[in-house]
Amino acid sequence: MPVTVVIGSQWGDEGKGKVVDLLSEKIDIVARYQGGANAGHTICFDEKTFVLHLVPSGIFHEGVTCVIGNGVVIDPVALMREVQTIKDLGFSVDGRLLISHNAHLIMPYHKRIEEVRERARDEGAIGTTGRGIGPAYVDKFARTGIRVVDLLDRDVLRKKLTASIEEKNAILRSVYGAEVLDVDAIIDEYVEFDKIIDPFVTDTTQYLCSAIAEGKRVMAEGAQGSLLDVDFGTYPFVTSSHPTAGGCCTGLGIPPTSVDSVIGIVKAYSTRVGNGPFPTELEDETGERLRATGHEFGATTGRPRRCGWLDLVALNYASMINGFTELCITKLDVLSGLDEIRVCVAYRYNGKVSTRFPSEVQTLTNVEPVYESFPGWAEDISSASNLNDLPANAISYLRFVSEYLQVPIETVSTGPKRAQTVTGAARELKADLSRRPAVAP
Ligand code: GDP
Ligand code: IMO
Ligand code: MG
Repeated sequence: MPVTVVIGSQWGDEGKGKVVDLLSEKIDIVARYQGGANAGHTICFDEKTFVLHLVPSGIFHEGVTCVIGNGVVIDPVALMREVQTIKDLGFSVDGRLLISHNAHLIMPYHKRIEEVRERARDEGAIGTTGRGIGPAYVDKFARTGIRVVDLLDRDVLRKKLTASIEEKNAILRSVYGAEVLDVDAIIDEYVEFDKIIDPFVTDTTQYLCSAIAEGKRVMAEGAQGSLLDVDFGTYPFVTSSHPTAGGCCTGLGIPPTSVDSVIGIVKAYSTRVGNGPFPTELEDETGERLRATGHEFGATTGRPRRCGWLDLVALNYASMINGFTELCITKLDVLSGLDEIRVCVAYRYNGKVSTRFPSEVQTLTNVEPVYESFPGWAEDISSASNLNDLPANAISYLRFVSEYLQVPIETVSTGPKRAQTVTGAARELKADLSRRPAVAP
């Protein structure tokens, strides 16, 4: 049975946690393939809300095995805290949580370096989550990183950590004039992880490839979003990994031929946390309304999310890169009560109108969105269980999105809870999808 990839199609926080949790009912394995504890994936059930940062969103289904793949950067302190919370909630992790021996670790010096670098960037700061993600990936590609497997050998760990911390201290002192870190304190803290983490560590690539060969149902859970991809996003206002579909193969060690479906999670409007261009941003009452109604505050950092209209130019670009085979529209309920809903269908730049997404920041900062306007709906849609329970204007909105992107909308989420979901929507939506594939001229 092939692999399904679930991907954020905007700037993150599209509702991946809710959707992955829901889809996990029919899945054997859920695997994270990139990012780290910068992610905040929210899951609501039994009237409770949980935010996962590193553990895959299938963990609340006892029959699901959760894999943290080689492409993830793991903060062992954050991971062990999360594991404890999951256990305290009454869920087992033994034999159900597998961690790649090749995954790289986030160390206190990564967070410190990130902090001083962001401060030095001043106005040009990225607005990172402060979780040490960028510096950890830098060390990985500089081949000076420390991996999970290193935690299991105290002598190796001590040697590698000493070299790494001394180097980072030299940078902190001489480049940033910042306070240095205590080598011995860090070593003492991290050598203790060997026994704690050992039961979870395995060759997850071997495990996943065997599972795929046996016909197990595997879901790869993306973190962040396509427009935060280090190559395809709004660089440098991006994260340091590949949330896009290609990332799942290198981040897990599975062949591209094993992937047969790519689900794009699309919030019914746009949000972004941190800095960087955002053409459809609303810095007015409507933006405030979306933030308040959608509770748009970061699940990891608590920062207010910037809000704006849906951007189909950006989404078409995400669809082109990821090859979405289906879409899940989330937070449609948040649009209820708006008289008018706008959707960006093109950009105007230097007097020309184009549907191409220019990911380079200079251009994207200066584009002017061209909007199409839709009448809103007043009804509360949070208990819709069927597409036809939705008001006609909501259905028209969905059909327009599906036809513009030429991708079927299979799922519509109308609230944070599992039950607040319309499945099998595409059949009833009857969008004209005869113009495939969606590539901007
Ligand atoms: P993720 O990072 O993509 O998993 O998304 P987050 O968890 O950071 O943010 C999504 C937020 O929206 C969470 O608070 C979810 O509980 C909530 N949510 C998810 N789907 C819906 C929906 O359809 N409607 C509403 N109102 N909230 C939703
Ligand atoms: P989930 O998985 C939204 C953003 C940060 C910042 C940029 C770089 O919950 O959707 P980083 O700490 O990764 O170096 O920050 O990326 N960012 C996210 N925004 N959702 C996320 O994750 C994010 N993870 C990182 O705000 O702009
Ligand atoms: Mg999030």
